[in-house]
Formats: sequence, C-alpha cells, structure tokens
Amino acid sequence: MGRPTLRHKVVVITGASSGIGRDAALRFAQRGAHVVIAARRAELLDEVKVQIEREGGRALAVPMDVTYRSQVEWLLGATLEHFGRADIWVNCAGLGMVAWFSDTTEAEFRRIFEVNAMGTFHGCQVALQQMYRQGAGHIINVSSLAGRFALPLNGAYAAAKHAVNAISQSVACELEGTPIRVSTVMPSLTDTPFFDAMVSKLPGRGDSVVQAMPVGRVGEAIVRCALRPRDQVVVAPLGRWLIVLAEVCPPVFRLVARRYLQVRAGDARPWQS
Ligand SMILES: NC(=O)c1ccc[n+]([C@@H]2O[C@H](COP(=O)([O-])OP(=O)(O)OC[C@H]3O[C@@H](n4cnc5c(N)ncnc54)[C@H](OP(=O)(O)O)[C@@H]3O)[C@@H](O)[C@H]2O)c1
Repeated sequence: MGRPTLRHKVVVITGASSGIGRDAALRFAQRGAHVVIAARRAELLDEVKVQIEREGGRALAVPMDVTYRSQVEWLLGATLEHFGRADIWVNCAGLGMVAWFSDTTEAEFRRIFEVNAMGTFHGCQVALQQMYRQGAGHIINVSSLAGRFALPLNGAYAAAKHAVNAISQSVACELEGTPIRVSTVMPSLTDTPFFDAMVSKLPGRGDSVVQAMPVGRVGEAIVRCALRPRDQVVVAPLGRWLIVLAEVCPPVFRLVARRYLQVRAGDARPWQS
C-alpha cells in the first residue's frame, strides 16, 4: 500500500474563516487537496481563498451558517457542483461560552447548542448522505477537551461538546467496518480569536488560565487525522492526563476544577451579589 495522500481530495471545512478551521484549510491545500471553506463571514473566506490560490491551490468559498440545515445542504450542493465529490468533511465551526450556570440564559444555552451540537448534527447528516452515495468518506468533528469533562463556568459549552463527542462516537460505531470513518479531534486551549468571539459573562478573555497552544498544532493534527484516520485525537499537552483524572479520580479532578474556578472567578459568587 502506498503512502496516504490528500492530493486532489475534496475537503469541506466549516469554521474556515478563522482560527483552527482556517489553519487546517491552508494546510490541506498545501498538501494538494481541493478545499471548500465555509463560515458566515464572506470577506474572511475570500482572504483564505486568495491565499490558497496564491500558493497554487484550489478553493471554493461558501458563506453559510451551520445552524440552518438548508445552508449546510447548500454547502454540499455547491461542493458537488464545483468539485463533484466530498471526500473529507471537517465540522469545525464552534462558539464558546464562559459564565456561571445560574447566569446562563435559555437563549444563550440554545445558541451554544445550535452552533456546536446542531451544527455538527447537520454537518454529519449532510456529509453522510454524500458519503453513502460515494461509498467512502471521512468526517472529522472538532470537539474539545470539554467534550470529555466539564470545568466550572463551562456548563453550556461542555454540554454541547459532550453532544458532539456522543454523535461522533455513536456514528463511528455504526459505520465500523465500512469505508466511511468518523473522527473526533479534541484540542485544549488554542491561540485563536475564539476567546474574542465567545459569549463571556466574566471579566477577561478566559484564555489566561494555561498557556494556549499555537493554532498550527491543531491544524496539523486535523490534517494528520485525515491522512491516518483515528477515532479520537487529543491535542493537548496534559489533556490525556486530565481525561484520565476526571474519569478515574474525581476527587483529584475536583481540586483542579476548584483551582480553575478560583483563577477565573476569584472570590465572587453569584449568590453573594
Ligand atoms: N480555541 C480554543 O481554545 C479551542 C479549544 C478547544 C476546541 N475548540 C474548538 O475549535 C473549533 C474552532 O474554534 P477556533 O478556536 O478556531 O475559534 P474561532 O477562531 O472563533 O473560529 C470559529 C469558527 O466558527 C465559525 N462559526 C461560528 N459560528 C458559525 C455559524 N453559526 N455558522 C458557520 N460558521 C460559524 C466562525 O466563522 P464566522 O464567524 O465567519 O461564521 C469561525 O470560522 C470550535 O469548534 C471550538 O469549539 C477551540
């Protein structure tokens, strides 16, 4: 068997206007893939497209919103019209939130689910329609360590990312033994505009608790996962340990969580105001 290649593969990436999705799109194009870049901000997508084409790659920019099923279907339609197939589909669009649970409104909770969980639901279902027709494909869902454990002040986001992990794991099992793969990529804190975009009801950007990883580390992990598919990829210096700690030693994990809460919120408590 030859070395796996991405040359002329058609890769669809949501959340490609910024951060991890943008970085992954550039890296896929550098490996010879044809890239379909999707997100809401058309002007940022155009910049990514120009950069890809300047480096000799091929890209299609599709402005769309992952929370609308019809727009995700439109993304698949545009991909097929332009490139004829969809080999790899990366659900990377996401939105963070940091707030006390009791300060989280229903509208905010729904919004975090709409973007992270429903966006992944739509992306997976629409991609699968096409992958069944092709008889092959690979879906990569970008989740988070928050898909494996929940820190304080992260209730809505962690719940939505747990849903992303559950969708990924369940579909991966359903498709075991077929030529369609489903992977979950779980980064920890990454240096992107995520913290400017996130819904934050606390002072500060929320990324100062530990050193954020360079975005290229996550973009490269996604590309490697496309080359050599794995069910789960944890991209985090201490991530694997934290997952183990949360699962096998909850009291110690609770100490870590308490420390996180202290750093993020200090002594302020909503029930004291
Ligand atoms: N940065 C971190 O520390 C970190 C850690 C773990 C996991 N993650 C996950 O990694 C993924 C990428 O995040 P990032 O760090 O790269 O943040 P980012 O720079 O803010 O990128 C988020 C992307 O999602 C897109 N997006 C948001 N809402 C959308 C919608 N309704 N429809 C379509 N696209 C939408 C944004 O584009 P538009 O605004 O143009 O639509 C943007 O391209 C997310 O799923 C996030 O949860 C991030």
